[in-house]
Amino acid sequence: MHAKEFRLKAFLTAVVLVAALPFAAAATGDPAAGAKIYEANCTACHGANRAGVPGTFPALVDVGKRLPPEQIKDRIRQGGGLMPPFSQLSAQEVDDLASFLQQ
Ligand code: HEC
Repeated sequence: MHAKEFRLKAFLTAVVLVAALPFAAAATGDPAAGAKIYEANCTACHGANRAGVPGTFPALVDVGKRLPPEQIKDRIRQGGGLMPPFSQLSAQEVDDLASFLQQ
């Protein structure tokens, strides 16, 4: 392999790793604890199986693929539309919820 090409590949690999870091670092919550918090606070609208109510409450089944963790956490803390803010949840509880929704 050409040395220049190798350096380019190493550089691109580093860029990809750095870009992925915030996602890995954000996944510090405990999904099992998050499942319990979800059950207590979120099932009324988003449903026990996260299917939501089409047209009214969005499904959260693949929300971890659609939104980065920070956006999920912001939505939980701030609410929006028909969703109330959950400002009473601790940072740890929000992390746990985000990890649960990532699954
Ligand atoms: C009172 C009903 C209600 C409750 C309770 C509720 N939500 Fe929501 N949620 C909504 C609605 C309505 C939206 C869509 C808001 C909008 O129009 O942007 C939403 C949106 C979201 C989104 C963004 C979905 C997307 O596809 O953009 C996430 C993530 C979310 N809720 C998580 C939660 C979590 C976690 C809880 C429990 C802590 C919760 N919600 C509790 C009604 C609710």
